[in-house]
Amino acid sequence: MNNLQPKISLENLIKIYGDKPHIALKLFREGKTKDNILELTNQVVSIADISLNINQGELFVIMGLSGSGKSTLVRCINRLIKPTSGHIYIDGEDIAHVNEKRMREIRLEKISMVFQQFGLFPHKTVLENVEYGLKIRGIDQVKRRQKGLKTLAIVGLEQWANYLPSSLSGGMKQRVGLARALATDAEILLMDEPFSALDPLIRREMQEELLRLQKELHKTIIFISHDIYEAFKLGDRIAVMKDGKIVQVDTPKMIMTQPANDYIRAFLQDIYDVRAMIE
Ligand SMILES: Nc1ncnc2c1ncn2[C@@H]1O[C@H](COP(=O)(O)OP(=O)(O)O)[C@@H](O)[C@H]1O
Ligand SMILES: [Mg+2]
Repeated sequence: MNNLQPKISLENLIKIYGDKPHIALKLFREGKTKDNILELTNQVVSIADISLNINQGELFVIMGLSGSGKSTLVRCINRLIKPTSGHIYIDGEDIAHVNEKRMREIRLEKISMVFQQFGLFPHKTVLENVEYGLKIRGIDQVKRRQKGLKTLAIVGLEQWANYLPSSLSGGMKQRVGLARALATDAEILLMDEPFSALDPLIRREMQEELLRLQKELHKTIIFISHDIYEAFKLGDRIAVMKDGKIVQVDTPKMIMTQPANDYIRAFLQDIYDVRAMIE
């Protein structure tokens, strides 16, 4: 594989929700705004022409307020949502335009997802939950068990293997969610606000856990967050979204020292305010 090729590359990605997306797309291309288009056609421009490269091994954070299009973007990348227009290359293959069969293969082979609300099966044990992705990949029971237990050990939960998720705290449930995603050895991890439902101290612990794991695993991770502190702590690079567009893509340091515009400055103000309070 060519190392210079980005792992994931988005080109002019557009997603419009509604029953007449192509009418809305035409208006969008004519330069009408998201609000204009909503008013005229009742269609929602959710991703408004995004181009972006994400490199192999990068922990890439997408940050933005609620409604800015983060979940839509990440769901386009595993094509739970089909984009209205544009390209999504994974290892050079345009998954926006492959058929469903090929898409299922790509998901099984390359992509795992961790959800905000954990998404565990309540009637399966912790171990069965972790094994689930291996089961649907047709891996035999002995291997599944081995891999499941090994992955549970990575997140420090091996002694909980035979319990049901209801016995676990929120932080532990999300460790199971993480273990399930890691068990498949998928190279790409999509994480949609995985720690947002957790209490602050547990959340912090999970952030550190993720950084520790990433040092060993070198996955390509897209991590969604609405929290600037989380974004700064985790991101190799951060893309800040607003109204379906990318406002700035940069390292945390560059965003801090060279904010692209007033919108980014307003985000940073929070950090300055906290500093000012204690000085
Ligand atoms: N199924 C849907 N139908 C219509 N509009 C949607 C749908 N899902 C999301 N939207 C709209 O798309 C925009 C982006 O939503 P979303 O991707 O969920 O943002 P975020 O994850 O940043 O909160 C919002 O304006 C939202 O209301
Ligand atoms: Mg969301």
